[in-house]
Amino acid sequence: QNRALRESKEGLEQRVAERTGELEERNEALRHNSAQLLAANTELDAFAYSVSHDLRAPLRSIDGFSQVLLEDYAAQLGEAGQDSLRRVRAATQRMGILIDDLLKLARVTRAEIRAEPVDLSDLARDIAAELQRATPERLVEFAIAPHLKAQGDPRLLRVVLDNLLRNSWKYTAKQARPRIEFGSVEENGGRAFMVRDNGAGFDMKYADKLFGVFQRLHSAAEFEGTGIGLATVRRIINRHGGRIWAEGAVDQGATFYFTL
Ligand SMILES: Nc1ncnc2c1ncn2[C@@H]1O[C@H](COP(=O)(O)OP(=O)(O)O)[C@@H](O)[C@H]1O
Ligand SMILES: [Mg+2]
Repeated sequence: QNRALRESKEGLEQRVAERTGELEERNEALRHNSAQLLAANTELDAFAYSVSHDLRAPLRSIDGFSQVLLEDYAAQLGEAGQDSLRRVRAATQRMGILIDDLLKLARVTRAEIRAEPVDLSDLARDIAAELQRATPERLVEFAIAPHLKAQGDPRLLRVVLDNLLRNSWKYTAKQARPRIEFGSVEENGGRAFMVRDNGAGFDMKYADKLFGVFQRLHSAAEFEGTGIGLATVRRIINRHGGRIWAEGAVDQGATFYFTL
C-alpha cells in the first residue's frame, strides 16, 4: 500500500513539474507577444502624430489662400465661385478639427500620467460654465453633485469630463428641456462616476462601438463630430486603470459611467 502511495505521489509530482514547465513556456510567449504589441502601438501612435502634424501646414495654406481669393477676387469669382470657395474653407476647417482630435488622441498615449487628488465636481462645473458661455442662447439644466474627488492626472481627467459633457451638450441640442447630470453611483462595492443626459441617446446594440476611433452612431448632418472623442476618453481611463461603459436608448438619453 505504501509503495502504491509513493508511486502515485511521484506520478503527481512529475505531472505538476510538466504542467509548470508548459505554463512557463506559455507565459514567456505571452510576454513576448505583449512586448511586440506595445512596440507596434507606440509606433502607430508616433506615425499618427507625425502625419497629423505634417497635414496641418498645407491645410493652413489652402485655407489662407482661399480666404485671399474670397477677399481680393470676389467680383471676378461671382456668386457661384465664392460659394465654392466657402465650401473649400468649411471643409478645411472640418479637417483641421479632425487633425487636432487625432493629435489629442496620440498625445494621450504618450503623456506621463501623474496621480494627484482631483476634484471632479469643480472640473465639471468649470466645463459646464465654459459650454454655457460659448452658446449662451441654449438653456441647459446642469445637476452637478458636489465634492466628487478622485486620484488621477488633472489635465487628462479634464479631457475626459470635457468630452463627456460636451457630448451631452451636443446630443441634447434637439431636446426641449435638456438636462445634464454629473454624479456617482455604487458599482460592485466601489464607486463609478457618471455623466447622464436626456438627449438623442443611442441603440444599446452599438454600445461597445462608441469607444472606437471614427465610430459614430449619428450622422454629421444630424450632429457634427469626428468620432474621436470617446476613443480618447477610453484611453485615458484605461491608462488610469479604470473602466468605462455606456447605457442608452434612442431618444431616451445616454449615461456614461467610468471608474478610476
Ligand atoms: N451623450 C450622448 N448621447 C448620445 N450619443 C452619444 C453621446 N455621446 C456619444 N454618443 C455617440 O457616440 C459617438 C462617438 O462619440 P465621440 O467619440 O465623442 O464622437 P463625436 O462626438 O465626434 O461624434 C457619437 O457620434 C454618438 O453617436
Ligand atoms: Mg464627442
